[in-house]
Amino acid sequence: MPVVAVVGGQWGDEGKGKIVDMLAEKSDVVVRFSGGDNAGHTVVNPLGQFALKLVPCGIFYPQVTCIIGNGVAINPAVLLEEMDMLQERGIDLSHLYISDRAHLIMPYHTFLDGLEEESRGGRAIGTTRKGIGPVFSDKIARLGIRAGDLLDRETFRERLSHLLEHKNDIISRVFGAEPLSLDDVFRQYCEYGERLAQYIKETTLMIAEAIDNKGKVLMEGAQGMLLDPDFGTYPFATSSSPLAGEASIGAGFGPTRIDQVIGVFKAFCSRVGAGPFPTELEDDTGDLIRERGHEYGTVTGRPRRCGWFDAVAARFSQRVNGCTGLAITRLDILDVLPRLKICVSYELDGQTVNNFPASVTALARCQPVYEELPGWQTPTSDIREFGQLPAEAQQYVTRIEELLSCPVDVISVGSAREQTIVRRDIM
Ligand code: GDP
Ligand code: IMO
Ligand code: MG
Repeated sequence: MPVVAVVGGQWGDEGKGKIVDMLAEKSDVVVRFSGGDNAGHTVVNPLGQFALKLVPCGIFYPQVTCIIGNGVAINPAVLLEEMDMLQERGIDLSHLYISDRAHLIMPYHTFLDGLEEESRGGRAIGTTRKGIGPVFSDKIARLGIRAGDLLDRETFRERLSHLLEHKNDIISRVFGAEPLSLDDVFRQYCEYGERLAQYIKETTLMIAEAIDNKGKVLMEGAQGMLLDPDFGTYPFATSSSPLAGEASIGAGFGPTRIDQVIGVFKAFCSRVGAGPFPTELEDDTGDLIRERGHEYGTVTGRPRRCGWFDAVAARFSQRVNGCTGLAITRLDILDVLPRLKICVSYELDGQTVNNFPASVTALARCQPVYEELPGWQTPTSDIREFGQLPAEAQQYVTRIEELLSCPVDVISVGSAREQTIVRRDIM
């Protein structure tokens, strides 16, 4: 029985939320395994439209165990707000669990994320300012506080007191800002701890049991491969790994247990924040895609930069993730375009480049080499079978399949759960 990882193949916002919501119907367990509330996963189902930041997108099915894994950094204030919102909208949370090993975003993390961005000036990364860089740095530097720590107040206060002294030094001496009060932070986090205590568990055993009992486990990725700190457009990256390999580490089971990796790709490209983007369209076509696709950040509301599908980047992403199948989303956004382009290689200093470069300086100088394909100029949102798509749309999808050497299992033609063409059952 499968363990399936669903991961973003581009710069995030590929439509992972939609695909996870759809696949969760047949799952026993859904686990978020990386990122934090920098993620915004949109789900449109019969219960309404939801933008989830931390709660797994399987939450709408009461029979599905939903786990926020150890690989996720949790801002408890944001999580509680999200939980309140879901409960107010009638969603049952009794099947939600939080790993006791998940790191917590503290007030100094969000504060420092903002201060660090300001200090970068023209070199700013364009982070979501949710404290992601600082919290994952602290995790690796062994300076973190974890969800389980909230359950033991005495130890928590002692650790917080020591850490806050160090953080306040940075806040006041490096940035000249007001230090944070130990009593205030402690009191606030104790309140969060009281509310979250019933959800905080040892979650690796729950996952192991599901796998051993031949359950269906769906791993929900956040962000996208091109934001990975190792393989993405570093330093214009995020601070946790969005890769399929992280599904095992961010949830606590062996990599040999992952059966399938579904890479989610938009039918075009988008990016929020700074960093090179070879196929970016700074013209009317880019504006048209942005407006038709409402390409504005779920988390920050920032306009997303839009461009043509980049098969060089996508091929790299497919390979590093080890995708067994692809989900192509937002095909319908391209319905109106008379002609489409796919970037098949780059040109750099007169040389053809087929592999995604490690250096952002090199990438910024790469010129996309395009292949042109005819558009279909027909609405596709009501189509549910591949054979019913206009021939040009089939050709477009088939070309992506060829360029990435990977089958397209799912095609999404609208934000709603049912607006999907399934070519192969995944769960
Ligand atoms: P995620 O972060 O990968 O979950 O993606 P986001 O939710 O941030 O952004 C994807 C946006 O596209 C959301 O507004 C979805 O509702 C929407 N969406 C997903 N799939 C489709 C699709 O096939 N067509 C259209 N028109 N919208 C889609
Ligand atoms: P989902 O899961 C799109 C981007 C930010 C910024 C960079 C670093 O919804 O696909 P960070 O706050 O993580 O330190 O910012 O990463 N970024 C995302 N872009 N979708 C996301 O998540 C993102 N999470 C982070 O815009 O460029
Ligand atoms: Mg998103």
